[in-house]
Amino acid sequence: MRLDKFLCETVGVTRTQAARLLKEKRITLDGNIVKSGAIKIAEDADVEFDGAALKLSGPRYFMMNKPEGYVCSHEDASNPTVFVLLEEVNAEKLHIAGRLDCDTTGLLLLTDDGQWSHRVTSPKHKCDKTYRVWLDDPIEDDVAEQFAEGVMLRGEDAETLPAQMTVVDEKEVLLTIHEGKYHQVKRMFAAVGNRVVGLHRETVGALVLDEALEPGEYRLLTADEVAQFMPSK
Ligand code: URA
Repeated sequence: MRLDKFLCETVGVTRTQAARLLKEKRITLDGNIVKSGAIKIAEDADVEFDGAALKLSGPRYFMMNKPEGYVCSHEDASNPTVFVLLEEVNAEKLHIAGRLDCDTTGLLLLTDDGQWSHRVTSPKHKCDKTYRVWLDDPIEDDVAEQFAEGVMLRGEDAETLPAQMTVVDEKEVLLTIHEGKYHQVKRMFAAVGNRVVGLHRETVGALVLDEALEPGEYRLLTADEVAQFMPSK
C-alpha cells in the first residue's frame, strides 16, 4: 500500500495533511525519515509518526445506544447523524448494520466489516431483533396470533415471517421479528389498526443493549459478541 494511504488510515488525516507531515519530516520508515507518500510499504511496515509506532487496525465493531432524533446515514439535510456521536479515527469508514428510524432508540451496530454486517442484516440468516413498542391504542387480544401467522404489509406481496409478541402492558409490548423490512414494526402495527408511538431496539441476535450505555454512548463489542454472528456459532 502507498505510504500516504497508510498515513490517512492510521493517523486519520487527509492525503494533503499526510503530505504535509511527510514534508515536515515527522514520518520515519525503518528509522529513516521519508518524504514521499508515493512509496509502497507492507501493511506491517515499521512506520513512526513523531516517534510513535503506527499500526493499521483490524475491523472495528461497536454497539451504540442510539438516541432519538439522530439519523442512520452519513449525511442528512435536517437532522444530526449517528456518526457525529462517534469519536473515532476514520469514523466515515464505518457503516450501520441494521438501520433504525430517526425516532427509534436503542441497540445500533456499527462496523467496517461488510461480511459481518451482511450476516447481521441478511434475511437469509434470520437474525432475531427484539423491540420494545409503545402503542397509541390498547393492544387487541388477537394481535399476537396475527403476528405469529404473518400479516400483509401495505405495498408488499408476501406476508411477514412469523413474529413473537409478548404483552407488557395494555399499550406496551415486546416484539421479536426475524427480518428487517423498511419501517417493519410500525407497518406491522398499522396493519392491525394500531400506531407505534415509541420504539426501542433491545436485542439483535444474542446481543443485548448494554444497560451501562446512556443514549448517545457507544462501546466496542467484545470478541465473543462479534463471534456470535460468525458461521461457527
Ligand atoms: N421497525 C420500524 O418500524 N422502525 C425501526 O426503526 C426499526 C424497525
